[in-house]
Amino acid sequence: MRTEPNINEIEANKQKEIMERLKIRIADKSKELGRPLTYCSVCFGCQMNAKDSEKLEGILETIGYVRSESEDADFLIMNTCTVRENANLRVYGRLGQLKKYKKKNPDMMIALCGCMMQESLVVEKIKQSYRHVDIIFGTHNVFKLAELIENKLNSKGMVIDIWEGTTEIVEDLPSERKYDFKCGVNIMFGCNNFCTYCIVPYVRGRERSRKPEDIIAEIQSLVADGVVEVMLLGQNVNSYGKNLENPISFAQLLEQVEAVEGLQRIRFMTSHPKDLSDELIAVMAKSKKICKHLHLPMQSGSTKVLADMNRRYTKEDYLTLVDKIKTAIPDISLTTDIIVGFPTETEEDFNETLDVVRKVRFDSAFTFIYSKRTGTPAATMEFASTEEEIKERFDRLLKEVQDIAKETCSKDQGQVLEVLVEGVDEQDASLLTGRLSNNILVHFPGDESLIGTFQNVRLIEAKGFYYLGERVDN
Ligand code: 5AD
Ligand code: SF4
Repeated sequence: MRTEPNINEIEANKQKEIMERLKIRIADKSKELGRPLTYCSVCFGCQMNAKDSEKLEGILETIGYVRSESEDADFLIMNTCTVRENANLRVYGRLGQLKKYKKKNPDMMIALCGCMMQESLVVEKIKQSYRHVDIIFGTHNVFKLAELIENKLNSKGMVIDIWEGTTEIVEDLPSERKYDFKCGVNIMFGCNNFCTYCIVPYVRGRERSRKPEDIIAEIQSLVADGVVEVMLLGQNVNSYGKNLENPISFAQLLEQVEAVEGLQRIRFMTSHPKDLSDELIAVMAKSKKICKHLHLPMQSGSTKVLADMNRRYTKEDYLTLVDKIKTAIPDISLTTDIIVGFPTETEEDFNETLDVVRKVRFDSAFTFIYSKRTGTPAATMEFASTEEEIKERFDRLLKEVQDIAKETCSKDQGQVLEVLVEGVDEQDASLLTGRLSNNILVHFPGDESLIGTFQNVRLIEAKGFYYLGERVDN
């Protein structure tokens, strides 16, 4: 028996109808010009944004635009990030340069979306100073791109559609995959943690989990289409499923994903240490498919700073958790994010961070200088250190994490391990690039036909953050 379509199905159908109408208009325009209409998709920021961009590209391809890498395309879409101030500055810089393309091609459309657009001050600035922008939308209505394009074609002014938040998850719209063999899969949207430095909860809204059956159906269809590796995406995957009508844990979801036949590797991102359960560690330890890699942002090693950041764990909690993980999964690779120069951080606090770095010995660490985000609680905190002190600490931390990473990343030298071949090496076309289960890259001689396959590779030489290797017969 067919049940009544719900509001999300109605929305998805509406968008599909608009896409059909646009297909005709774009084909007509293309005939008139005697060439295909092109689109260029620029994406800043995290994996969630990359996934959103795949959805935007899916819509653009469906309505008839052809991909181009050049920014003077007929349709340019920039998916923005606002996690740190310099992400915003990069967008303004790029926008200024786009003016000249629009002059040459007045029919060109420029669309901006993503996290930065969820900030009202940004939208005001664009309205005032960047009048060549045609469409602005945010993080909650990516699925509406076709409708916004149609609105723009039917009107003269800038089309602006920013939602404050949403409870809706519109499923089943096209998505353009970057790789044939691996794919990101959203499992949840938004974040409820409100770390005091972070703007994400304000621009991506409250946590909403997708239903497990929708996730599994998407993965099954990806696998049927040749995908062997999925990356489950969420700002805080460890709190997945808590607010569903039928609550389920992230670990339980992983077990369901593991059972998908044909799927070979499972990754996920990002884990918040406060929510990482024993159940998850146990599921990872016994899994055949979950990769031996955990990204576990620590942010700071100082219990005082962690409290000021509202991270809700202490230095000792973090170290105990890492011990538990390493005991259960000895060959796991651990990576992290660290912020230097949070307002209340002193030299003593920073030394606590260095202490954790030395104890954990991360395989890699993304290090950031604290960037003030207006509207977050930390933005009004007084600085305990000067800019010079912070910069100097950052350099010290970077050197430490790099020295350690070089050593930890070399530990498998000489071994034969399985890699998933991802592509041709960007520097040397005679080499392929593949990824180990623990996320480290390996370059080895081979030809393109191996892309998307698993190969056994001997790790001949550790080069710091990657290996040079040679293929061993499977
Ligand atoms: N300043 C610097 N780094 C930040 N991050 C988030 N917000 C800020 C900020 N205001 C970092 C955190 C997070 C990563 C994605 O970005 O380390 O884990
Ligand atoms: Fe930002 Fe914290 Fe949420 Fe991560 S968990 S997105 S750092 S608020």
